[in-house]
Amino acid sequence: MAANGSGLDVEQIRRDFPVLDQQVRGRRLAYLDNAATTQKPLAVLEAVDHYYRHDNANVHRGLHTLAERATERYESARDRLARFVNARDRREVVWTRGTTEAINLVAQCFAQTELGPGDAVLISELEHHSNIVPWQLACQRSGATLRWIPLAEDGTLDLSDLDALLEGVKLMSVAACSNALGTIHPVRQLVDAAHAAGAAVLIDAAQATVHQRMDVQAWNADFVALSGHKAYGPTGIGALIGTTEWLDRLAPWHGGGEMIETVTLEASTWNELPYKFEAGTPNIAGAIGLAAAIEWFDALDHAALLTHEQVLLHAATEGLQQIQGLRLIGTAADKAPIVSFVIDGVHPQDLATLIDQSGVAVRTGHHCAMPTMAKFGVPGTVRASMACYNSLEDIQQLIAATEIAAEILR
Ligand SMILES: Cc1ncc(COP(=O)(O)O)c(C=O)c1O
Repeated sequence: MAANGSGLDVEQIRRDFPVLDQQVRGRRLAYLDNAATTQKPLAVLEAVDHYYRHDNANVHRGLHTLAERATERYESARDRLARFVNARDRREVVWTRGTTEAINLVAQCFAQTELGPGDAVLISELEHHSNIVPWQLACQRSGATLRWIPLAEDGTLDLSDLDALLEGVKLMSVAACSNALGTIHPVRQLVDAAHAAGAAVLIDAAQATVHQRMDVQAWNADFVALSGHKAYGPTGIGALIGTTEWLDRLAPWHGGGEMIETVTLEASTWNELPYKFEAGTPNIAGAIGLAAAIEWFDALDHAALLTHEQVLLHAATEGLQQIQGLRLIGTAADKAPIVSFVIDGVHPQDLATLIDQSGVAVRTGHHCAMPTMAKFGVPGTVRASMACYNSLEDIQQLIAATEIAAEILR
Protein backbone atom coordinates (compact mmCIF):
# COMPACT_ATOMS: atom_id res chain seq x y z
CA MET A 1 0.00 0.00 0.00
CA ALA A 2 1.34 3.44 -0.90
CA ALA A 3 1.96 5.83 1.96
CA ASN A 4 2.24 9.62 2.03
CA GLY A 5 0.68 9.99 -1.40
CA SER A 6 3.98 9.57 -3.27
CA GLY A 7 3.52 6.00 -4.45
CA LEU A 8 6.35 4.81 -2.20
CA ASP A 9 5.40 2.13 0.32
CA VAL A 10 7.13 3.64 3.31
CA GLU A 11 5.61 1.21 5.83
CA GLN A 12 7.05 -1.70 3.85
CA ILE A 13 10.45 0.01 3.64
CA ARG A 14 10.47 0.68 7.38
CA ARG A 15 10.08 -3.03 8.09
CA ASP A 16 13.54 -3.53 6.57
CA PHE A 17 15.11 -1.27 9.24
CA PRO A 18 14.90 -2.91 12.69
CA VAL A 19 16.63 0.05 14.35
CA LEU A 20 13.70 2.35 13.55
CA ASP A 21 11.32 0.23 15.59
CA GLN A 22 12.20 1.60 19.03
CA GLN A 23 11.27 4.22 21.56
CA VAL A 24 13.65 7.00 22.53
CA ARG A 25 12.94 8.88 25.76
CA GLY A 26 9.56 7.19 25.86
CA ARG A 27 8.59 8.42 22.39
CA ARG A 28 8.49 6.83 18.96
CA LEU A 29 11.91 7.36 17.30
CA ALA A 30 11.88 9.84 14.40
CA TYR A 31 15.35 9.45 12.88
CA LEU A 32 16.11 12.62 10.92
CA ASP A 33 19.92 12.60 10.95
CA ASN A 34 20.40 10.84 7.63
CA ALA A 35 22.85 13.34 6.18
CA ALA A 36 25.23 12.26 8.97
CA THR A 37 24.61 8.56 8.38
CA THR A 38 21.72 6.42 7.19
CA GLN A 39 20.35 3.34 8.93
CA LYS A 40 21.08 -0.07 7.44
CA PRO A 41 18.47 -2.44 6.00
CA LEU A 42 18.35 -6.14 6.98
CA ALA A 43 19.87 -7.06 3.60
CA VAL A 44 23.08 -5.27 4.62
CA LEU A 45 23.18 -6.76 8.12
CA GLU A 46 22.66 -10.22 6.65
CA ALA A 47 25.29 -9.81 3.91
CA VAL A 48 27.97 -8.75 6.41
CA ASP A 49 26.94 -11.48 8.86
CA HIS A 50 26.97 -14.12 6.12
CA TYR A 51 30.41 -13.06 4.94
CA TYR A 52 31.95 -13.39 8.40
CA ARG A 53 30.11 -16.63 9.15
CA HIS A 54 30.91 -18.43 5.90
CA ASP A 55 33.44 -16.73 3.64
CA ASN A 56 35.93 -14.75 5.71
CA ALA A 57 39.46 -14.80 4.21
CA ASN A 58 41.91 -12.30 2.82
CA VAL A 59 41.33 -11.42 -0.81
CA HIS A 60 43.43 -11.90 -3.95
CA ARG A 61 46.34 -13.75 -2.37
CA GLY A 62 45.04 -17.19 -1.44
CA LEU A 63 44.27 -20.16 -3.62
CA HIS A 64 42.08 -21.87 -1.03
CA THR A 65 38.30 -22.00 -1.39
CA LEU A 66 37.46 -19.37 1.22
CA ALA A 67 39.96 -16.92 -0.28
CA GLU A 68 38.45 -17.50 -3.71
CA ARG A 69 34.92 -16.97 -2.38
CA ALA A 70 35.90 -13.80 -0.49
CA THR A 71 37.68 -12.44 -3.57
CA GLU A 72 34.74 -13.23 -5.81
CA ARG A 73 32.27 -11.47 -3.50
CA TYR A 74 34.57 -8.49 -2.95
CA GLU A 75 35.22 -7.98 -6.66
CA SER A 76 31.54 -8.51 -7.49
CA ALA A 77 30.82 -5.67 -5.07
CA ARG A 78 33.07 -3.45 -7.16
CA ASP A 79 31.13 -4.44 -10.28
CA ARG A 80 27.85 -3.68 -8.51
CA LEU A 81 29.01 -0.19 -7.53
CA ALA A 82 30.39 0.43 -11.03
CA ARG A 83 26.97 -0.45 -12.47
CA PHE A 84 25.13 1.68 -9.90
CA VAL A 85 27.09 4.84 -10.68
CA ASN A 86 27.32 4.01 -14.40
CA ALA A 87 31.14 3.99 -14.44
CA ARG A 88 32.69 3.35 -17.84
CA ASP A 89 34.95 0.61 -16.51
CA ARG A 90 35.29 -1.38 -13.25
CA ARG A 91 38.95 -0.24 -13.15
CA GLU A 92 37.64 3.26 -12.44
CA VAL A 93 36.26 2.18 -9.04
CA VAL A 94 38.87 2.55 -6.27
CA TRP A 95 37.72 1.44 -2.82
CA THR A 96 38.40 3.95 -0.05
CA ARG A 97 37.21 4.38 3.54
CA GLY A 98 34.75 6.99 2.34
CA THR A 99 34.44 10.40 0.72
CA THR A 100 37.07 11.97 2.97
CA GLU A 101 39.72 9.44 2.02
CA ALA A 102 38.80 9.64 -1.68
CA ILE A 103 39.25 13.43 -1.69
CA ASN A 104 42.52 13.18 0.25
CA LEU A 105 43.77 10.64 -2.30
CA VAL A 106 43.22 13.04 -5.20
CA ALA A 107 44.47 16.08 -3.27
CA GLN A 108 47.71 14.40 -2.21
CA CYS A 109 48.34 12.93 -5.66
CA PHE A 110 47.74 16.34 -7.24
CA ALA A 111 50.05 18.03 -4.73
CA GLN A 112 52.74 15.51 -5.63
CA THR A 113 52.78 15.89 -9.42
CA GLU A 114 50.13 18.25 -10.77
CA LEU A 115 50.20 21.43 -8.66
CA GLY A 116 52.85 24.08 -8.23
CA PRO A 117 53.31 27.80 -7.62
CA GLY A 118 51.13 29.81 -10.02
CA ASP A 119 48.47 27.06 -10.16
CA ALA A 120 45.11 27.31 -8.43
CA VAL A 121 42.52 24.95 -6.96
CA LEU A 122 38.89 26.09 -6.94
CA ILE A 123 36.35 24.98 -4.32
CA SER A 124 33.24 26.68 -2.91
CA GLU A 125 32.27 28.37 0.36
CA LEU A 126 29.60 25.69 0.80
CA GLU A 127 31.90 22.68 1.07
CA HIS A 128 32.17 20.12 3.85
CA HIS A 129 35.50 20.34 5.71
CA SER A 130 36.43 17.10 3.92
CA ASN A 131 36.41 19.05 0.68
CA ILE A 132 38.28 22.05 2.12
CA VAL A 133 41.09 20.86 4.37
CA PRO A 134 42.67 18.36 1.92
CA TRP A 135 42.96 21.22 -0.61
CA GLN A 136 44.40 23.60 1.98
CA LEU A 137 47.05 20.97 2.72
CA ALA A 138 47.66 20.29 -0.99
CA CYS A 139 48.08 24.01 -1.67
CA GLN A 140 50.42 24.48 1.31
CA ARG A 141 52.56 21.59 0.08
CA SER A 142 52.67 22.55 -3.57
CA GLY A 143 52.63 26.35 -3.43
CA ALA A 144 49.33 26.49 -5.34
CA THR A 145 46.58 28.96 -4.40
CA LEU A 146 43.11 28.06 -3.10
CA ARG A 147 40.15 29.98 -4.55
CA TRP A 148 36.52 29.99 -3.52
CA ILE A 149 33.23 30.15 -5.43
CA PRO A 150 31.12 32.50 -3.29
CA LEU A 151 27.90 31.47 -1.58
CA ALA A 152 24.73 33.46 -2.31
CA GLU A 153 22.06 34.47 0.25
CA ASP A 154 19.72 31.61 -0.67
CA GLY A 155 22.40 28.94 -0.28
CA THR A 156 23.16 28.51 -3.98
CA LEU A 157 26.59 29.10 -5.49
CA ASP A 158 27.14 32.50 -7.06
CA LEU A 159 28.45 31.49 -10.48
CA SER A 160 28.46 34.99 -12.00
CA ASP A 161 32.29 35.14 -11.97
CA LEU A 162 32.95 31.46 -12.58
CA ASP A 163 34.94 31.91 -15.79
CA ALA A 164 37.26 34.45 -14.15
CA LEU A 165 37.64 32.24 -11.08
CA LEU A 166 38.62 29.31 -13.30
CA GLU A 167 41.60 31.08 -14.87
CA GLY A 168 44.77 29.14 -14.07
CA VAL A 169 42.82 26.49 -12.14
CA LYS A 170 44.20 22.95 -12.32
CA LEU A 171 41.35 21.32 -10.44
CA MET A 172 37.89 22.33 -9.23
CA SER A 173 36.29 20.34 -6.41
CA VAL A 174 32.64 20.88 -5.42
CA ALA A 175 29.86 18.88 -3.82
CA ALA A 176 26.88 17.78 -5.92
CA CYS A 177 24.69 18.49 -2.91
CA SER A 178 25.41 20.46 0.27
CA ASN A 179 25.19 18.54 3.55
CA ALA A 180 24.69 21.74 5.55
CA LEU A 181 21.83 23.30 3.56
CA GLY A 182 20.67 20.67 1.07
CA THR A 183 21.35 22.83 -2.01
CA ILE A 184 21.72 20.76 -5.19
CA HIS A 185 24.31 22.25 -7.53
CA PRO A 186 24.24 22.25 -11.37
CA VAL A 187 27.00 19.67 -11.66
CA ARG A 188 27.12 19.31 -15.43
CA GLN A 189 27.24 23.09 -15.92
CA LEU A 190 30.12 23.35 -13.44
CA VAL A 191 32.00 20.44 -15.05
CA ASP A 192 31.61 21.89 -18.55
CA ALA A 193 32.83 25.32 -17.45
CA ALA A 194 35.85 23.81 -15.66
CA HIS A 195 36.76 21.57 -18.58
CA ALA A 196 36.46 24.50 -21.00
CA ALA A 197 39.05 26.28 -18.81
CA GLY A 198 41.33 23.23 -18.86
CA ALA A 199 40.69 22.22 -15.23
CA ALA A 200 40.03 18.71 -13.92
CA VAL A 201 36.93 18.26 -11.73
CA LEU A 202 36.20 16.31 -8.58
CA ILE A 203 32.57 15.95 -7.48
CA ASP A 204 31.87 15.19 -3.81
CA ALA A 205 28.83 12.93 -4.05
CA ALA A 206 28.59 12.06 -0.34
CA GLN A 207 25.05 13.48 -0.09
CA ALA A 208 24.00 13.06 -3.71
CA THR A 209 24.44 9.29 -3.87
CA VAL A 210 20.92 8.46 -2.66
CA HIS A 211 19.12 11.75 -3.43
CA GLN A 212 19.81 11.78 -7.17
CA ARG A 213 20.12 9.11 -9.83
CA MET A 214 23.89 8.61 -9.87
CA ASP A 215 25.39 8.71 -13.36
CA VAL A 216 29.06 9.63 -13.38
CA GLN A 217 29.17 9.58 -17.19
CA ALA A 218 26.35 12.14 -17.38
CA TRP A 219 28.26 14.34 -14.91
CA ASN A 220 31.44 13.85 -16.97
CA ALA A 221 33.66 14.69 -13.98
CA ASP A 222 37.19 13.36 -13.73
CA PHE A 223 36.71 12.14 -10.15
CA VAL A 224 33.68 11.38 -7.99
CA ALA A 225 33.92 10.64 -4.26
CA LEU A 226 31.26 8.84 -2.21
CA SER A 227 30.62 7.16 1.16
CA GLY A 228 28.80 3.85 1.66
CA HIS A 229 27.37 4.74 5.07
CA LYS A 230 25.35 7.63 3.64
CA ALA A 231 23.81 5.21 1.13
CA TYR A 232 22.43 2.56 3.54
CA GLY A 233 25.76 0.69 3.58
CA PRO A 234 28.33 0.11 6.35
CA THR A 235 30.74 2.70 7.71
CA GLY A 236 34.40 2.58 6.65
CA ILE A 237 33.75 1.90 2.97
CA GLY A 238 33.40 4.28 0.06
CA ALA A 239 34.92 4.90 -3.32
CA LEU A 240 36.77 7.18 -5.63
CA ILE A 241 35.52 6.88 -9.18
CA GLY A 242 38.22 8.27 -11.45
CA THR A 243 38.73 8.18 -15.19
CA THR A 244 41.35 5.62 -16.26
CA GLU A 245 43.25 8.47 -17.96
CA TRP A 246 43.70 10.32 -14.66
CA LEU A 247 44.23 7.23 -12.51
CA ASP A 248 46.92 6.01 -14.90
CA ARG A 249 48.60 9.40 -14.92
CA LEU A 250 48.72 9.97 -11.13
CA ALA A 251 51.41 8.37 -8.97
CA PRO A 252 50.24 6.13 -6.11
CA TRP A 253 49.70 7.70 -2.70
CA HIS A 254 49.79 4.84 -0.14
CA GLY A 255 52.46 2.19 -0.44
CA GLY A 256 52.09 -1.42 0.72
CA GLY A 257 50.76 -4.80 -0.28
CA GLU A 258 48.25 -5.07 -3.16
CA MET A 259 49.32 -1.87 -4.91
CA ILE A 260 52.60 -3.28 -6.27
CA GLU A 261 53.52 -5.43 -9.22
CA THR A 262 57.15 -6.09 -8.25
CA VAL A 263 59.33 -5.03 -5.32
CA THR A 264 63.14 -5.16 -5.30
CA LEU A 265 65.62 -3.69 -2.88
CA GLU A 266 66.03 -0.76 -5.25
CA ALA A 267 62.49 0.10 -6.37
CA SER A 268 58.94 -1.06 -6.95
CA THR A 269 56.54 -1.09 -9.86
CA TRP A 270 52.80 -0.57 -9.59
CA ASN A 271 49.87 -2.90 -9.94
CA GLU A 272 47.21 -2.25 -12.59
CA LEU A 273 44.12 -0.16 -11.92
CA PRO A 274 42.37 0.08 -9.57
CA TYR A 275 44.77 -1.80 -7.24
CA LYS A 276 47.52 0.78 -7.69
CA PHE A 277 45.54 2.96 -5.22
CA GLU A 278 44.48 0.18 -2.82
CA ALA A 279 47.38 -0.54 -0.47
CA GLY A 280 46.87 -3.06 2.33
CA THR A 281 44.07 -5.43 3.27
CA PRO A 282 40.83 -3.74 2.25
CA ASN A 283 37.47 -3.50 4.03
CA ILE A 284 36.14 -6.68 2.46
CA ALA A 285 32.99 -6.97 4.58
CA GLY A 286 32.30 -3.26 4.03
CA ALA A 287 32.43 -3.64 0.25
CA ILE A 288 30.13 -6.66 0.39
CA GLY A 289 27.75 -4.77 2.69
CA LEU A 290 27.74 -1.77 0.38
CA ALA A 291 26.90 -3.96 -2.61
CA ALA A 292 23.96 -5.36 -0.63
CA ALA A 293 22.85 -1.80 0.20
CA ILE A 294 22.97 -0.81 -3.46
CA GLU A 295 21.06 -3.92 -4.48
CA TRP A 296 18.39 -3.11 -1.88
CA PHE A 297 18.23 0.60 -2.77
CA ASP A 298 18.15 0.00 -6.52
CA ALA A 299 15.03 -2.13 -6.16
CA LEU A 300 13.06 0.90 -4.93
CA ASP A 301 10.92 2.94 -7.29
CA HIS A 302 13.27 5.90 -7.77
CA ALA A 303 10.76 8.28 -9.30
CA ALA A 304 8.43 7.65 -6.34
CA LEU A 305 11.34 8.01 -3.92
CA LEU A 306 12.35 11.43 -5.25
CA THR A 307 8.72 12.58 -5.11
CA HIS A 308 8.41 11.25 -1.56
CA GLU A 309 11.54 13.12 -0.46
CA GLN A 310 10.19 16.36 -1.92
CA VAL A 311 6.85 15.82 -0.13
CA LEU A 312 8.74 15.45 3.16
CA LEU A 313 10.94 18.47 2.43
CA HIS A 314 7.94 20.61 1.58
CA ALA A 315 6.00 19.51 4.69
CA ALA A 316 8.99 20.22 6.95
CA THR A 317 9.68 23.59 5.34
CA GLU A 318 6.05 24.71 5.55
CA GLY A 319 5.51 23.47 9.11
CA LEU A 320 8.73 24.83 10.58
CA GLN A 321 8.23 28.24 8.98
CA GLN A 322 5.07 28.70 11.04
CA ILE A 323 7.13 28.70 14.25
CA GLN A 324 7.69 32.19 15.56
CA GLY A 325 11.29 33.45 15.16
CA LEU A 326 12.40 30.41 13.15
CA ARG A 327 14.67 31.18 10.23
CA LEU A 328 15.51 28.67 7.51
CA ILE A 329 19.13 28.75 6.36
CA GLY A 330 19.32 27.68 2.73
CA THR A 331 16.25 28.33 0.62
CA ALA A 332 17.40 27.26 -2.85
CA ALA A 333 14.73 26.07 -5.26
CA ASP A 334 16.56 22.82 -5.91
CA LYS A 335 17.18 21.02 -2.64
CA ALA A 336 17.74 17.51 -1.30
CA PRO A 337 15.48 16.68 1.68
CA ILE A 338 17.49 18.66 4.23
CA VAL A 339 16.24 21.58 6.34
CA SER A 340 18.64 23.72 8.34
CA PHE A 341 17.26 26.33 10.74
CA VAL A 342 17.89 28.63 13.67
CA ILE A 343 15.51 30.33 16.08
CA ASP A 344 16.27 33.91 17.04
CA GLY A 345 17.69 34.17 20.54
CA VAL A 346 17.99 30.42 21.02
CA HIS A 347 21.24 28.45 20.87
CA PRO A 348 20.94 25.55 18.39
CA GLN A 349 22.53 23.21 20.95
CA ASP A 350 19.76 23.87 23.50
CA LEU A 351 17.16 23.48 20.81
CA ALA A 352 18.45 20.09 19.64
CA THR A 353 18.76 18.80 23.21
CA LEU A 354 15.08 19.56 23.82
CA ILE A 355 14.04 18.16 20.43
CA ASP A 356 15.73 14.89 21.40
CA GLN A 357 13.42 14.71 24.44
CA SER A 358 10.60 14.14 21.95
CA GLY A 359 12.32 11.14 20.35
CA VAL A 360 13.46 13.16 17.33
CA ALA A 361 17.07 12.67 16.17
CA VAL A 362 18.37 15.82 14.46
CA ARG A 363 21.90 17.19 14.17
CA THR A 364 23.09 20.48 15.57
CA GLY A 365 26.30 22.47 15.13
CA HIS A 366 28.38 23.59 12.18
CA HIS A 367 27.86 20.34 10.19
CA CYS A 368 31.56 20.35 9.27
CA ALA A 369 30.91 23.49 7.22
CA MET A 370 32.31 26.33 9.34
CA PRO A 371 32.84 28.71 6.38
CA THR A 372 29.14 28.29 5.48
CA MET A 373 28.05 29.05 9.04
CA ALA A 374 30.36 32.09 9.13
CA LYS A 375 28.83 33.36 5.90
CA PHE A 376 25.35 33.23 7.44
CA GLY A 377 26.61 34.69 10.73
CA VAL A 378 25.43 31.77 12.87
CA PRO A 379 27.44 29.46 15.15
CA GLY A 380 25.48 26.51 13.84
CA THR A 381 22.04 25.32 12.84
CA VAL A 382 19.64 22.52 13.67
CA ARG A 383 19.49 20.20 10.68
CA ALA A 384 16.81 17.62 9.89
CA SER A 385 17.70 15.34 6.99
CA MET A 386 15.35 12.77 5.52
CA ALA A 387 15.70 9.33 3.93
CA CYS A 388 13.44 6.89 2.11
CA TYR A 389 12.06 5.43 5.37
CA ASN A 390 10.91 8.73 6.83
CA SER A 391 7.19 9.41 6.93
CA LEU A 392 5.01 12.46 7.33
CA GLU A 393 4.56 11.28 10.93
CA ASP A 394 8.28 11.86 11.47
CA ILE A 395 7.94 15.37 10.08
CA GLN A 396 4.92 16.16 12.27
CA GLN A 397 6.88 14.90 15.29
CA LEU A 398 9.79 17.18 14.30
CA ILE A 399 7.56 20.24 13.95
CA ALA A 400 5.74 19.57 17.24
CA ALA A 401 9.03 18.95 19.07
CA THR A 402 10.54 22.17 17.68
CA GLU A 403 7.47 24.16 18.67
CA ILE A 404 7.61 22.87 22.24
CA ALA A 405 11.37 23.47 22.49
CA ALA A 406 11.06 26.99 21.07
CA GLU A 407 8.33 27.86 23.57
CA ILE A 408 10.40 26.61 26.52
CA LEU A 409 13.58 28.39 25.42
CA ARG A 410 12.17 31.75 24.36
C1 LIG B 1 29.09 16.74 1.44
C2 LIG B 1 29.96 15.85 2.27
N1 LIG B 1 31.23 15.65 1.92
C3 LIG B 1 32.05 14.85 2.62
C4 LIG B 1 31.62 14.20 3.74
C5 LIG B 1 32.55 13.30 4.48
O1 LIG B 1 32.10 11.97 4.40
P1 LIG B 1 32.80 10.81 5.22
O2 LIG B 1 32.87 11.28 6.64
O3 LIG B 1 31.87 9.64 5.04
O4 LIG B 1 34.13 10.58 4.61
C6 LIG B 1 30.31 14.39 4.18
C7 LIG B 1 29.84 13.80 5.44
O5 LIG B 1 28.96 14.31 6.09
C8 LIG B 1 29.45 15.22 3.41
O6 LIG B 1 28.19 15.41 3.77
